[in-house]
Amino acid sequence: MTPSAGRAPDARDVVITPIDLATKVDEALDVQAQAFGLTADEVGVRRHIVLRHLAGPGARALGATNGDGRLVGFVYGMPNDRAQWWSGVVEPYLRRAGHESWLDDSFTITELHVLPDYQHRGIGRALITSLTDSAAEPRSILSAIDTESPARALYRKLGYADLARRVMFPSAPSPYAVMGAPLPLRR
Ligand SMILES: CC(C)(COP(=O)(O)OP(=O)(O)OC[C@H]1O[C@@H](n2cnc3c(N)ncnc32)[C@H](O)[C@@H]1OP(=O)(O)O)[C@@H](O)C(=O)NCCC(=O)NCCS
Repeated sequence: MTPSAGRAPDARDVVITPIDLATKVDEALDVQAQAFGLTADEVGVRRHIVLRHLAGPGARALGATNGDGRLVGFVYGMPNDRAQWWSGVVEPYLRRAGHESWLDDSFTITELHVLPDYQHRGIGRALITSLTDSAAEPRSILSAIDTESPARALYRKLGYADLARRVMFPSAPSPYAVMGAPLPLRR
């Protein structure tokens, strides 16, 4: 069913499955652009980053697909690797807060996005819990813009707690919070 004006799409048609994100990278970045807000330049930069991540060891992705076969949400992540850029940026903040050990034996959630028309129907929760349920690591870490957003509310409900606040990534104007949770995530 293609959503029409004034009619909410039916989340019951949505299925969550493993996806080959590399072959769906443009569709996924379109979801991210609509959910999170990305400029065309940012989409180009993200495309290279996502493809590099997916080539790394242990990267896994799940997609939420509607009855028309359209990707309406996705999540991906990988075992944390201290050699990666993200880990290097957050490491001094975690060290100062006494939480550096979270960088080891952790599954990192790199991206989680759901199209606006499909939000608040349990899809984001299903994506992140399904992905982390099959992680070998005993815990999970991620970063989210350091503000009271739906994302932060969801992460807290799943057991993620703040490990560091006001984390600045080069090129990102807003500070981020780094959060960590034991696995499996709380239901
Ligand atoms: C964060 C996001 C992925 C959550 O996906 P979702 O499918 O909407 O989430 P769910 O329906 O599974 O909601 C789970 C919880 O999230 C919170 N939440 C979701 N939408 C919300 C909203 N509009 N307002 C307030 N809280 C909201 C609630 O705590 C909700 O729990 P509840 O159902 O018990 O009320 C989605 O809102 C999104 O794509 N946001 C924009 C992109 C983004 O911020 N991504 C995360 C980057 S770190």
